[in-house]
Amino acid sequence: VRAWHRDGLRVALVPTMGNLHSGHVRLIEIARAHAERCVASIFVNPTQFGPSEDFARYPRTPREDERKLADAGCDLVFMPEVAELYPHGGEGATRIEVPGLSGILDGEFRPGHFAGVATVVSMLFHIVEPDIAIFGEKDYQQLTVIRRMVADLCMPVEIVGAPTVRAPDGLALSSRNQYLTESERALAPTLYATLEQAAKRLRSGDTDIGGIEREGMQALEKAGFRPEYVSVRQAADLAAPAPGTRELVVLVAARLGKARLIDNLQVTRP
Ligand code: PAF
Repeated sequence: VRAWHRDGLRVALVPTMGNLHSGHVRLIEIARAHAERCVASIFVNPTQFGPSEDFARYPRTPREDERKLADAGCDLVFMPEVAELYPHGGEGATRIEVPGLSGILDGEFRPGHFAGVATVVSMLFHIVEPDIAIFGEKDYQQLTVIRRMVADLCMPVEIVGAPTVRAPDGLALSSRNQYLTESERALAPTLYATLEQAAKRLRSGDTDIGGIEREGMQALEKAGFRPEYVSVRQAADLAAPAPGTRELVVLVAARLGKARLIDNLQVTRP
């Protein structure tokens, strides 16, 4: 990477946990459009998983991933072992907290998750030294946390958000969709339909945020999900919407069978 920088080439990083799908391939394409060289990292980061979460069973497909990255035109893959990034273990490792943003929404249901994400992303930035890094908008809160960390700690990396890639029925692509049974997969697009219904109300000028969130929760429960939250927030900082704020985002997290699914939709209100 340093040789590339010496040659004046711009370098993009796409951090991933592997098990790549077409959403990740899109991130590589966006990286290549922004920079002359593209690096992808594959690392299932233990510190962003809670003790009862799916770290052990998270799908790992390194050989297929390498092939997909090569086909997508990625120049370099960084695939460290856990002991390389956490030589003294994850527990006692130095951590980056983004207070405020880390404890709300997903942070409420996954304590410590965003500290794990911010810490590993900061390590990847220090190791790879990219000029720019691409993150999917599917993980909207993660993207917001990373933008804030980069701004607060003056990290010299430009952060680019990439639109969510969806299946034709609206379900956002995610490695965790594999946990769904056939019948659950058929139900799963209800998540996106719920977001669209909330967005429709907001676009029509409806200001009953509580009512919109309650309607979303009820629709998901009725369809057989175990929803954790449906929440309307300001797109810029995930705060509760002030009356004059037009740029909003509706975020949802819900369990369906063994899967925990998240999604979001950005909305501009009149
Ligand atoms: O979005 C992901 O895949 C992960 O949270 C990331 C950003 C690679 C950090 O482990």
